[in-house]
Amino acid sequence: MDAEEFDISLMRPRLPNAEAIASYLSEIDTNQWYSNYGPLEQRLRSRFADMFSLGSENVVLTANGTLGLAMALREAARGLQGLCVMPSFTFVASAHAAVAAGLTPHFIDVDIDSWGLDADYVRQQLASIGEPVRAVLAVAPFGAPLNIAAWDTIELETGVPVVIDAAAGIDTVIPGQCPTIVSLHATKPLGIGEGGLILCKDVERARELFFHTNFGFRGRRSAESIGFNGKLSEYAAAVGHAALDGWERVRRQNIDCSVLYTKALQDLGGIELAPGSDTAFAKSTFNILLPEGNVDNAIAFMNARGIEVRQWWSKGCHREPAFQKYSSGNLTVTEKLGRCVLGLPFSADLTAREIARIRSSLESFLS
Ligand SMILES: Cc1ncc(COP(=O)(O)O)c(C=O)c1O
Repeated sequence: MDAEEFDISLMRPRLPNAEAIASYLSEIDTNQWYSNYGPLEQRLRSRFADMFSLGSENVVLTANGTLGLAMALREAARGLQGLCVMPSFTFVASAHAAVAAGLTPHFIDVDIDSWGLDADYVRQQLASIGEPVRAVLAVAPFGAPLNIAAWDTIELETGVPVVIDAAAGIDTVIPGQCPTIVSLHATKPLGIGEGGLILCKDVERARELFFHTNFGFRGRRSAESIGFNGKLSEYAAAVGHAALDGWERVRRQNIDCSVLYTKALQDLGGIELAPGSDTAFAKSTFNILLPEGNVDNAIAFMNARGIEVRQWWSKGCHREPAFQKYSSGNLTVTEKLGRCVLGLPFSADLTAREIARIRSSLESFLS
């Protein structure tokens, strides 16, 4: 079935329309400044800084989230080769970023209750892995709240830098000393098309990451350190401003919808809702845990009924052809999640009738 054949598609992203962006585009015409930290990019940085109670110097905007992750991991590794300890249960972008940073992913298991890395478990792993570990990449699973302060502590105690992948976490992140990367991709709660946001309370580190977005130039046109072109253009910043103008409304609508969804599914026997479902936050996906052995059948069953569903993080990165060669620890929980986690349709404008239809199809499948 093609995406357009589904009655209820997996997502219906809704970004700011042309009218909402128009005044910002006119500013670009007037400024004739199109990239390289123009006025719109600078103002967007300071709007995000206000949103997270940070200074503008603690915020770096990037062309996309994957690039933000790769730059933060590269900065963490300081040019050294070694392992990046990370969950296998994440989107492939996390592992691609580790490789792009010159690191070797080492996949470890997540916690069954949070679907994310457990800080104490990581501490134990760091003590027992024989090879040099240059970074830990902790992922906020599907944007669920993550205790970033606990990761700051791990970093302090072990001396291994931590980077946080909170791609879908725009509404849950409480920034810490270690860099946190949020994606502004069209499918994320606050989407601008392509874009990324790095939040870091450590000003020195944030500054390094800023230089990294600009070929390693530090004020003068000389590559003083390794870098990328990671900049956000003025056009993307224009969409960012319009997205922030509408954010409170979009956020409210998103939360109202997820609360309705959670209520509709919470008493459905045989399934569990994703961790964090009891917290009201703007989401980009809605995931459930099915009983063992059902996920592939559930996908076929729901799709045949016009409802598009997907395993967003497949069966874990360690099973993806590109990453099978990398080492891993025990992945019992990851394997289970790969057999049981299913992403249902989610968009802020999902109607109560659509939610009822999804519930009833799931109920028929489970019975
Ligand atoms: C966990 C995770 N990390 C990283 C990314 C990459 O973000 P971007 O698409 O902005 O590059 C995503 C995007 O879906 C993601 O879900």
